[in-house]
Amino acid sequence: MKITKFTSLKGKRPIVVITAYDSPFARIAHEANVDAILVGDSVANNVLGFSNTLPVNMEDMIRHTAAVRRGAPDAFVIADMPFLSYQCSEHEAIANAGKFLKEAGANAVKLEGGTFVAPLIESIVKSGIPVMGHLGLTPQSINVFGGYKVQGKTEKSATDLLKDAKALESAGVFAIVLEMVVEELAREITRNLSIPTIGIGSGRYCDGQVLVLHDVLGLNPDFKPRFSKSYANLYEVSLKAISTYVKEVRDGSFPGPENVFRSEQD
Ligand code: KIV
Repeated sequence: MKITKFTSLKGKRPIVVITAYDSPFARIAHEANVDAILVGDSVANNVLGFSNTLPVNMEDMIRHTAAVRRGAPDAFVIADMPFLSYQCSEHEAIANAGKFLKEAGANAVKLEGGTFVAPLIESIVKSGIPVMGHLGLTPQSINVFGGYKVQGKTEKSATDLLKDAKALESAGVFAIVLEMVVEELAREITRNLSIPTIGIGSGRYCDGQVLVLHDVLGLNPDFKPRFSKSYANLYEVSLKAISTYVKEVRDGSFPGPENVFRSEQD
């Protein structure tokens, strides 16, 4: 899907985005007909075993984005810019954003923040790199928020979030992720923008939804956020499959005659 098709879906039908971090799941996501694949910095929690997104760096994100591109050559792929890859200087932000397109084959990048990052976003977009914004709970600022809390509950924070969304739209983002924003405010922001809003934990009235692949597949039995939904229990399926393999090797039933090579065969 091209970016123009993606943005034109606003007001026509709900937009579906999912995260992916490697080739096999990127292929499956694309075959399932998602509108875009987000290579989230949530690779930190979901794949690399960290407890938050702060430790991942450009090298990690480029490697995972390139893997996703190889798995889904025709997908619309958005790559997350990792913590401190865009906050330090405009020059570094443009250079790093460009690496996702030049070296990893992404179609666009996503970065977190509101009014504060709007001038930066304008420069990246003017350099020819499409940018998706990310407002509400922005996990790279977890140390400022003091926890993963729902955003936009007070009048002041609601006014600020709407202002931030408008600033990002003016800066040229093609869409905005709204994370953990109260439903009424997400609806108001969505109504006030001409670009799509993509919600996660932000209710029913965003233009689209994004979920984390590992939550959708039920890969982590210890993490079941209320805003997400598991459509499978791959933790159980995987545990059963690997346990059966362990059992079969130990009881001698694997490898069987059909799994071996013998000198008299072709
Ligand atoms: O990294 C990520 O998975 C994200 C989504 C939660 C939107 O940014």
